[in-house]
Amino acid sequence: MKRNILITGGAGFIGSHVVRLMVNRYPDYHIVNLDLLTYAGNLANLKDIEHKPNYTFVKADIADLDRMRQVMKEYEIDGVIHLAAESHVDRSIKNPFAFARTNVMGTLSLLQAAREYWESLPEKYAGKRFYHVSTDEVYGSLALTHPDGIEAGATTKASAKGHTAYGTEFFVETSKYDPHSPYSASKASSDHFVRAYHDTYGMPVVVTNCSNNYGPYQFPEKLIPLFINNIRNGKELPVYGKGENVRDWLFVEDHARAIDLIFHSGKTAETYNIGGFNEWKNIDLIKVIIKTVDRMLGNPEGHSLGLIRYVTDRPGHDSRYAIDSRKLRDELGWEPSLQFEEGIEKTVRWYLDNQEWIDNITSGAYEKYYEDMYANR
Ligand code: NAD
Ligand code: DAU
Repeated sequence: MKRNILITGGAGFIGSHVVRLMVNRYPDYHIVNLDLLTYAGNLANLKDIEHKPNYTFVKADIADLDRMRQVMKEYEIDGVIHLAAESHVDRSIKNPFAFARTNVMGTLSLLQAAREYWESLPEKYAGKRFYHVSTDEVYGSLALTHPDGIEAGATTKASAKGHTAYGTEFFVETSKYDPHSPYSASKASSDHFVRAYHDTYGMPVVVTNCSNNYGPYQFPEKLIPLFINNIRNGKELPVYGKGENVRDWLFVEDHARAIDLIFHSGKTAETYNIGGFNEWKNIDLIKVIIKTVDRMLGNPEGHSLGLIRYVTDRPGHDSRYAIDSRKLRDELGWEPSLQFEEGIEKTVRWYLDNQEWIDNITSGAYEKYYEDMYANR
């Protein structure tokens, strides 16, 4: 079936994996990747598919309502997968307004443009879908009641074989919203707008809340790529607080597969939590990264442990995230394809093999390139 899908934020980390999957998997779809190319957007992430006939890139700001109206019409968009956002918690603490602008006003502009376009068509919302990609951070923080971890299953609400849990509670689709950072507050607000457009105007929406992603093409301000790069360069590894916060990690390609599945088969107006039952205490994860990078670089075991520096904690730092993704598994049959050990091996190998990609970003050459591009417009 021919479809015209607008993917926003497709030059970013997760978006680039979603664009790649959709372009390769659905040659009959026209995939329109709309991205402002902020510091986090990088077209080098899509070099392998940019020549494909079913792919178009549009540089635009989701908060520009008129431009969104134009794009919806010009490309006759019948499905939106919305990932564009300001995504880094530390940046949101420094500049919360940018997060409200993009994540709240940007999402609202996109919703409004989709609404106006779809309501103008004879078939209206039939065959349409607005998919909003959100985060588990909107649910706030879970209690860390088992700091050393326990086998999940019998004693906890969510179960997965061999899964270590650091508490007995998990985020489910009905968990109360309780955001703590300007980033998560802005994402929570955008989720509410998306659901309001369904309830008020009948827009066919679906929302997913996913746990921490890792894998190739993640901007090296986030924990895993930052630490891999710092180890490679013998630089310090700033561990916030005591390193005891817990995150639930999912390989990015598994998130992209879930998005594809839910976009096509998820129920309208539903929420699905996406996660791999893969909780890690930061400091334990950091030690795995150190061990893996040292081994791949041929360093003796423990060589880079001395780079760890405990630094002042992130303000409002959430203690524990843990997703219960059984609804997605039971209703749509999704399961993560990769074991964490395999995912981390692949990820470290990718960053070490793609030093040019990371060097371009960290050297400033990449930001400079886009600064020049903006200046020339
Ligand atoms: P990212 O920061 O790597 O990419 C964001 C992309 O959005 C960039 O390409 C950027 O240029 C683009 N963008 C930013 N502002 C824009 C604007 N005003 N108009 C158009 N494009 C704009 O982010 P990511 O980690 O890939 O996250 C993508 C989405 O997934 C976000 O909505 C995020 O909240 C959500 N999410 C992320 C994670 C994670 O672990 N990274 C987990 C769950 C949910
Ligand atoms: O849970 C999903 C969220 O995961 C997404 O919505 C966000 O977009 C994404 O950025 C991520 O948020 P986190 O704040 O969890 O990710 P980050 O990589 O910034 O940090 C992971 C953990 O590591 C967190 O507990 C803070 C800690 N940390 C992070 C950095 C950058 C450190 O200890 N030192 C660091 O230098």
